[in-house]
Amino acid sequence: NMGLTGTKLGCAEGGCGACTVMLSRYQTHTKQLLHYASNACLAPLCSLHLVAVTTVEGIGSVARKLHPVQERIAKAHGSQCGFCTPGIVMSMYALLRNNPTPMMADMEEAFQGNLCRCTGYRPILEGYKTFTGGCCGGRGQKNGCCMSNVNGAQNGSEEQINVTTSLFNPAEFAPFDPTQEVIFPPELMTLSKDRKPHSLCFHGERMTWLQPDSLDEFLNLKWKHPDARVVVGNTEVGVEVKFKNMVYPVILAPTFIPELSAVTHAEDGIVFGAACTLSHMAVVLRQAVESLPPHKTEVFLAVLEQLRWFAGVQIRNVAAVGGNIMTASPISDLNPVFMAAGCKLTLVDKDGSREIQMDDGFFTGYRRTALQPQQILLSIHIPYSKKVEFVSAYKQSPRREDDISIVTAAMSVTFTPGTDVVENLRLSFGGMAPTTVLAKKTANRLIGRPWGEELLEEACNSMAEEMSLDPSVPGGMVTYRRTLTLSLFYKFYLTVLQKLRLQVTSDCLSATEVYHPETPSSVQIYQAVAKGQNQDDVVGRPIMHLSAMKQATGEAVYCDDVPLYENELYLSLITSSKAHARILSIDTSGAERCPGVVCFLFADDIPGSNTAGSLKFDETVLADGEVTCVGHIIGAVVAKTQLQAQRAAKAVRIEYEERQPVITIQEAIATQSFYQPIRTIQKGDLELGFKHADHILEGEMHIGGQEHFYLETNVTLAVPRGEDGEMELFVSTQAPTHTQSLVAMALGVPANRVVVRVKRMGGGFGGKESRTTLLSTVVAVAANKLKRPVRCMLDRDEDMLITGGRHPFYGKYKVGFLNSGRVVALDVTYYGNAGNSMDLSQIVERALFHMENSYRVPNIRGRGFLCRTNLPSNTAFRGFGGPQGMMVAENWMTDVAQSLGKSPEEVRRLNLYMKGDSTPFNQVLDQITLDRCWDECMSRSGYQQRRIAIDLYNRQNRWTKRGIAVVPTKFGISFTALFLNQAGALVHIYTDGSVLLTHGGTEMGQGLHTKMVQVASRVLGIPSSKIHISETSTNTVPNTSATAASASSDLNGAALKNACEILLKRLEPFKAKNPNGTWEDWVKAAYFDRVSLSANGFYKTPDIGYDFETNSGRAFSYFSYGVACSEVEIDCLTGSHKNLSTTIVMDVGNSLNPAIDIGQVEGAFMQGLGLFTLEELHYSPQGVLLTRGPGSYKIPAFGDIPTQLTVSLLRDAPNDKAIFASKAVGEPPLFLASSVFYAIKDAISAARAESGITGPFRLDSPASAERIRNACSDRFTKLCPLAEAGTFIPWSVQV
Ligand SMILES: Cc1cc2nc3c(=O)[nH]c(=O)nc-3n(C[C@H](O)[C@H](O)[C@H](O)COP(=O)(O)OP(=O)(O)OC[C@H]3O[C@@H](n4cnc5c(N)ncnc54)[C@H](O)[C@@H]3O)c2cc1C
Ligand code: FES
Ligand code: FES
Repeated sequence: NMGLTGTKLGCAEGGCGACTVMLSRYQTHTKQLLHYASNACLAPLCSLHLVAVTTVEGIGSVARKLHPVQERIAKAHGSQCGFCTPGIVMSMYALLRNNPTPMMADMEEAFQGNLCRCTGYRPILEGYKTFTGGCCGGRGQKNGCCMSNVNGAQNGSEEQINVTTSLFNPAEFAPFDPTQEVIFPPELMTLSKDRKPHSLCFHGERMTWLQPDSLDEFLNLKWKHPDARVVVGNTEVGVEVKFKNMVYPVILAPTFIPELSAVTHAEDGIVFGAACTLSHMAVVLRQAVESLPPHKTEVFLAVLEQLRWFAGVQIRNVAAVGGNIMTASPISDLNPVFMAAGCKLTLVDKDGSREIQMDDGFFTGYRRTALQPQQILLSIHIPYSKKVEFVSAYKQSPRREDDISIVTAAMSVTFTPGTDVVENLRLSFGGMAPTTVLAKKTANRLIGRPWGEELLEEACNSMAEEMSLDPSVPGGMVTYRRTLTLSLFYKFYLTVLQKLRLQVTSDCLSATEVYHPETPSSVQIYQAVAKGQNQDDVVGRPIMHLSAMKQATGEAVYCDDVPLYENELYLSLITSSKAHARILSIDTSGAERCPGVVCFLFADDIPGSNTAGSLKFDETVLADGEVTCVGHIIGAVVAKTQLQAQRAAKAVRIEYEERQPVITIQEAIATQSFYQPIRTIQKGDLELGFKHADHILEGEMHIGGQEHFYLETNVTLAVPRGEDGEMELFVSTQAPTHTQSLVAMALGVPANRVVVRVKRMGGGFGGKESRTTLLSTVVAVAANKLKRPVRCMLDRDEDMLITGGRHPFYGKYKVGFLNSGRVVALDVTYYGNAGNSMDLSQIVERALFHMENSYRVPNIRGRGFLCRTNLPSNTAFRGFGGPQGMMVAENWMTDVAQSLGKSPEEVRRLNLYMKGDSTPFNQVLDQITLDRCWDECMSRSGYQQRRIAIDLYNRQNRWTKRGIAVVPTKFGISFTALFLNQAGALVHIYTDGSVLLTHGGTEMGQGLHTKMVQVASRVLGIPSSKIHISETSTNTVPNTSATAASASSDLNGAALKNACEILLKRLEPFKAKNPNGTWEDWVKAAYFDRVSLSANGFYKTPDIGYDFETNSGRAFSYFSYGVACSEVEIDCLTGSHKNLSTTIVMDVGNSLNPAIDIGQVEGAFMQGLGLFTLEELHYSPQGVLLTRGPGSYKIPAFGDIPTQLTVSLLRDAPNDKAIFASKAVGEPPLFLASSVFYAIKDAISAARAESGITGPFRLDSPASAERIRNACSDRFTKLCPLAEAGTFIPWSVQV
């Protein structure tokens, strides 16, 4: 109601941080104010009594004054689409409220719970580094600020002459004055100080919130309501209610009960009240560690180690220790430590209390404990460790930061004093059974034994037997999880050996190191604009994204921020739970009884055509009798509110007759389930090529799919205009025209009745190119039927389920090569998992166009198959098949090198394209800069020295290995569908001289509008401040291509230039007449002379058009080139890896805006890093997506940035094919992240060599911790063999 739209909703499960706000409360016991960051999405309103909530709007605004936290993220280019920005701003703000001069480490911790999908994080950290003690804040000597020096060019006069390295000037930042912050509301302070004991009770529609004032009352209420949930942080209960449809009629909140939050220092340990937050617990334990003798704090250190990687700060600030224990999750991170340490719990009910040991008797089953319903957990006693006791805790998760565990473990050993003989041993594991378990058999076997190699051997054999798992176990990763128990024990074994001062060989020491992130550092290098360039000419300058300030203050308007219409309704989708089935019946009777329901929509309600799709119309708006994937849209419910619509949608019952689904690529191959056409590109004589080859190798690779994870999910607001079938739609889409035509088709009206408007998107990445119409057509049909505005913003889990992602690929190849490493023949076949419709699956063509990546292969054949499966249709995603095509190429390139015993870099360089070479599709490569990028990357990265250092490191370390890889990319620029290579623009000059630009492209964070203003500013010769872009709409520029294929600056820039030149021509006579006049004078004169001050521009890319039949014609207007060198370190025992360094050299032509271009390079690189090393979509064998939110699907976080990151834009590389000699940049750098994958593969090779295994091996993408660990074959993996395929039904399948 207050219109505060700054706080964003990205997931509703505490996993993205977009909703971060600062909560403040007055603590009566300490008489101090407590400020802390919290996730608004999980904070129950009732829990905010006496709490002040500060949202991003509360600290500054563009109209008033930006807070330094807002200003610095904007000016440092840390905001692209801006959807994550308010959350990041508030995390930083909350940190500064507690600590005005934080260290970098504090900042990194503060951002553990925030995700950004656009920026690559680096600029955010750079901007905020200015708050740390490490920066002079613009008061430095040389360039005004020390940051400019940190970012400084490497020594070398040439660089200092025309190369710039700072993208912002910290000296321009407003100073930060911590004394000037918003104060805690005095009314709340008075209320908090004078609070009289009284209980609170809030009644809602379905629940009652009781907040009693004393422990007695609390226990009486629990007696009365044994099923009541005790809620402190709501981080478990909130997720259960939202995503597991749990209903808890009574909630008991212990906020007012001092006993539950008390911390008591006892003789033998510390007692924490069950409602103590994890953050508070960490503070107390840290103080204890600092003040107590080290031998007493082994347990505390183990708890702190677990807390370090427990969720993000926002969760730890509110979540309670009791909540973690009582949830009894088998992957709780704290319960294993508490069990291994022998903690005691105090349980209490109205009749009294009792103390119990926290052992495996406490957990009685999956998420069940020994507590009686009327009991609560009062406190936990964490003991001091004994003199001869050693404790360690371990957590292994797919991502280090803010992730749930795969396996979590804690181990405690006590020795007979003065000996190395085990007196007591507790080995506790999470993730190995439905509860946290103790490996009792193993522990018992080891008691009385000396701590040595024999004990290790026995422990491993015994544990491999005791910690077994059913091959179908939920969560999968069976071999990995089993191996981890042994590997982690081995780490513990070595750590204890060290602590006992027994001999640990130096090559094993690194296995005992506890991971501490290093503060990242970065360098950005780009060419300065030519000396003498007019100050008003902003082309080539690193100007800030035009919306960055608004994004940082929360004032930027996204689709769902459009204010509510008075009579607006909300829509919720009804989707299929079966992958392939006939619909037998739909029963809405239960849903009809839900309050607020207005109507249902099914296929029969569509007034126009139910046909939908992209280039091929092979889809329906609403399912017509048959469903072909889980998530297939069957219908919709419209209700008065979002909650009502969603509840009603869940109450609709559907009966199905199931059919055999095809889920995986292998199943599609077996059943020959393919879409047509099957594409082939062939050149040279394959047979002859193989004949002349010295060696022939065959191999294969699977590349997993990827979720777009734009922070803003799909959203549409449809507003009927009331006459002639007119409909106005606000949509978060990259394709307004496509949306317009499909909506018009569904409504049965001509396209001229439908207007689609796009202000900005909170990220797109290809995911909002075609799949947005799934929602917008249904919403439009509902609005049309009801003649009322209808809105829907998908929840994150719905969005992930329904809208598809990057195509998973399977590649098979046969490669022929000479002894030198030169590749002479390649036969490669690609299979892409397209899902249940064609959509934009021409991506397989782009995979073929990139099958040789950057290498000359004279005899080549590539074939591309599109698998028709019963998965939600996969779609465009940054790179559009190119990355998958190139990934397979780098795989065979690595195989070739490995089989010859040569360095992959030597073989890559040898095969690199040179000027004049022609591609398999017969395009001659002119203006090629690959070799320049390669050479610069090799020298900037210090590849040779690194290689030597890595080899030495690997010789000295058995259980951690380092690896390095240099990978090039060549990316074709143009839509592969010829007709899409066109763009339009409309430019108005108003009589006050202000200019309004409209063009066909949409803004999704990539800075397109900013670049377009730069272009118009140069062409018109006026300052950019006179130019504005409001939105993209189908009634201003018609028939637009989607903003995609990296080509939007090229196409729209040229169209705008055309329009601006037309206008300039019209103004020429007035300039000539009044040469000393101003822009405004000329404009006014033209107007009074009745000259039109509005013009259309148009552009089509010349000289392109490729024909598959004849393998001729120009497929691409030009190519973007780049090379990256990455170095990693893997932990062979756990499979974790660290990204140590990456150096990127990218050819972006003459950059239109180096800040935006470097932002694109880094953002794409980080997205590629996710694709190739981290992000895994899990599907059940029945085609159900199991990973539907940030809790289970991990995109890269702040901690994944390479510790050293250098991005250099190639100098003196003008491109004569695009606007102002620039080049496209959105997609090409993504593939460079494969350098990290191949560096990992290099490191794994070193690990395998220790076990005597050499030569090529298969490593599928992503190189997840599981794959890395399993590939590092050793004595531990051998004890945990894989169950034989076909003998069990796996939890998830490789699709
Ligand atoms: C984004 C995210 C990340 C997370 N990351 C991790 C992680 O890394 N590691 C991990 O282990 N967990 C993680 N969790 C799980 C969760 O945060 C923890 O389990 C947390 O400690 C729960 O505390 P809470 O106060 O929020 O619990 P609530 O949701 O308030 O309550 C949880 C349950 O405990 C019961 N309960 C609470 N207190 C008592 C009491 N005194 N007596 C009896 N019953 C009680 C409640 O009835 C309820 O059933 C994560 C959760 C989220 C949303
Ligand atoms: S929306 Fe709250 S954390 Fe994602
Ligand atoms: S700018 Fe961070 S998600 Fe877009």
